[in-house]
Amino acid sequence: MCAARSADVGCESSSIRLPSGSVQNTPENLRKWIADPNSMKPGVLMPPMHLNDHDLDVITAYLTTLH
Ligand code: HEM
Repeated sequence: MCAARSADVGCESSSIRLPSGSVQNTPENLRKWIADPNSMKPGVLMPPMHLNDHDLDVITAYLTTLH
């Protein structure tokens, strides 16, 4: 859990927020989310994208450039 949350200033280093408050917004977690959101948040409405490793790499790289 992020300490900043208690001060209500947010936790994320960018505007992309992983939905679970207990998951850090790292490129590794973002990649895992895109590959299989349900593994990080059971019951989530976002479906698994069935992307190959290359596509996961480039999409994650792109999303990490957003602020
Ligand atoms: C390659 C395609 C996709 C990427 C890269 C992607 C990425 C993401 C990311 C980064 C989040 C977290 C965003 C945030 O909370 O600020 C998210 C959440 C979500 N996405 Fe996707 N997404 C994709 C496709 C889809 C599709 C096709 C659907 C639905 C048909 C979908 C439905 C959702 C939903 C419902 C959430 C909110 C989950 C929650 O917080 O419970 N996504 N997506």
